[in-house]
Amino acid sequence: MPTTFTADPEFAHHFRRLHQVFMYVTDRCNLECEQCIYKPSISHFINEEIPLDDALGLLATFRKLGAGKVTFLGGEPTLYGHRQGGRPLLDLIEGTRALGYEYVRIDTNGQRVSSLLEQPSFARLDEVAFSLDGFSAQTNDPLRGKGTFVRAVDAIRKAVGLGYFVTVTCCVQKLFLDRDEAGMLNLERMIRFVEGLGVHQVNFHDLFKVGIPMDTWTGNFAPRPQDWVPVYEELSAKARSGAFGIKVRLPQCFVTKAEFARAPDYYGYCPVKLGERVMVHPNGTIRICSNLICTAFGVATWGEGRIGWEWSHANELAGHDLDRMTPCTNRSRHKKYGDLVPVCFSFKPGQDEYVWNHRLGWDASKPGLAEAAAS
Ligand SMILES: C[S@@+](CC[C@H](N)C(=O)[O-])C[C@H]1O[C@@H](n2cnc3c(N)ncnc32)[C@H](O)[C@@H]1O
Ligand code: SF4
Repeated sequence: MPTTFTADPEFAHHFRRLHQVFMYVTDRCNLECEQCIYKPSISHFINEEIPLDDALGLLATFRKLGAGKVTFLGGEPTLYGHRQGGRPLLDLIEGTRALGYEYVRIDTNGQRVSSLLEQPSFARLDEVAFSLDGFSAQTNDPLRGKGTFVRAVDAIRKAVGLGYFVTVTCCVQKLFLDRDEAGMLNLERMIRFVEGLGVHQVNFHDLFKVGIPMDTWTGNFAPRPQDWVPVYEELSAKARSGAFGIKVRLPQCFVTKAEFARAPDYYGYCPVKLGERVMVHPNGTIRICSNLICTAFGVATWGEGRIGWEWSHANELAGHDLDRMTPCTNRSRHKKYGDLVPVCFSFKPGQDEYVWNHRLGWDASKPGLAEAAAS
């Protein structure tokens, strides 16, 4: 068994309902996506990777605190341990399974995953999530780089053929809100495209400019909040009515002030307040909210067998009202949206996701849902 890290009591207390780990195993990447949330880390890293022993030690500690799901990402996680021919990534997957994690997945850009897909240890993953930001080279490559669409789609087809549970993660760039001649939203075209590839689920990420540091390095692809609200309504209604052959995870992102006031405990879902996740980085930072990614803000640090609470002003909990559910704190610190308020970027009603459904049962907490089901 890997040696666990000793966690400060403050850490263990805040994460007493820990469910999932996002482990940024490497800061190295083989692409330079225009919109990349992680750009500062992949352009300047000193500690490139989380060493295998540390990765497994941290995972053992988080497992003891209750975590059941792990995502490996970065940077590009298929580059993890590239100096040792990639073996450390396979050992990491095996070691994570041995710790008893129930759901283990990887986020990849799909550019050099082909030979890994044939490895039995890689096949122990519950999910391979490929990033694709368009339904054609013309719509994808301006974000992810020339040639990336063709390579990722080839890898997706191979993974589907080999029987993996394959998902696609897609950033909602503003052209997805445009319609084709027949009136179909490009966002729907994206769903139909990945459905045609045999993918099992598509998970959308938002790219809104919301008054946070990454606004400055994530390019110019963001839709306007007021344009997103009707598109969200239209597509989420379609997904609910069973119009798509695959599962769709759509971020709601904004609700009206009146709707929020009707159900704050539901719309106020916040991983920072719930302590339901940790994001772990090679530079020793542990953070909760990806709105603060690549900043000095975090909740703890790891190193030399210990997880230490962040006692300085850089603790990301600052300003969060831990006793009351509110609109997203980080997205409303420096920005206002008229009649709308921001909800968490991970707030995706109806999504089929391990923590959201199985651990938290968040959909069931929506006021009015129980009455509607009973009537
Ligand atoms: C940072 S990447 C790391 C894993 C891998 N390199 C990849 O591209 O899938 C993790 C996920 O974040 C998404 N992402 C990148 N920039 C983003 C942004 N500005 N906002 C939201 N998600 C973003 C990527 O598309 C990818 O699906
Ligand atoms: S492949 Fe992933 S980590 Fe690399 S630049 Fe693109 S989004 Fe960022």
